[in-house]
Amino acid sequence: MKTEAIFRNNEKWIAEKLRLDPDYFRKLPEGQKPEVLYIGCSDSRVTAEELMGAGPGEIFVHRNIANMVPNTDISAMSVIHYAVSLLEVKHVVVCGHTHCGGVKAAMEQSDLGILNPWLRNIRDVYRLHQEELDSISDQEQRYKRLVELNVREQCINVMKTPEVQKACFERNLQVHGWVFDMESGKLTDLHIDFSKILSTIMQLYKVVD
Ligand code: CO
Repeated sequence: MKTEAIFRNNEKWIAEKLRLDPDYFRKLPEGQKPEVLYIGCSDSRVTAEELMGAGPGEIFVHRNIANMVPNTDISAMSVIHYAVSLLEVKHVVVCGHTHCGGVKAAMEQSDLGILNPWLRNIRDVYRLHQEELDSISDQEQRYKRLVELNVREQCINVMKTPEVQKACFERNLQVHGWVFDMESGKLTDLHIDFSKILSTIMQLYKVVD
């Protein structure tokens, strides 16, 4: 896609928005009240709002390589703080996807420079679930399972934060783990049992009374 085309598309988009609602750009700066924080992969094929059919103002989005939530990443932590404590979203979603280049790279033993420490977080997920993953002989299936387990572990990372723990107890904030299947376009809920995880991880990561 050429950058000139992007500016032409932008003009068309403005015209279309105004055709549907002449007040659209008068209302847009008034504020946002999204109900969902979506943490997904930067992969250009996994378009967050588009695949969910969401419009402006509906989803607060954070994307990085392989939808990671390392608790030392100031960017992810700031997004969670802002979305949960200030915007008071009702749901936090971690969405992984099949054919994720980040997850695949973490499964291979190669030196990827500055990406190494980032991918090490995915290797930690593999180590935590090594017995299960090593028992899957089919490489594609093992790769798919690591995508799911990574989503689960990143959801746990979300729940380690004080903002999320507080909101879970005080206003029943929900955390969800989803996977986008590239071959069918389908979003699947992994139905992770968060109340159970919360009570288990609270024994180690409790930060609120
Ligand atoms: Co990816």
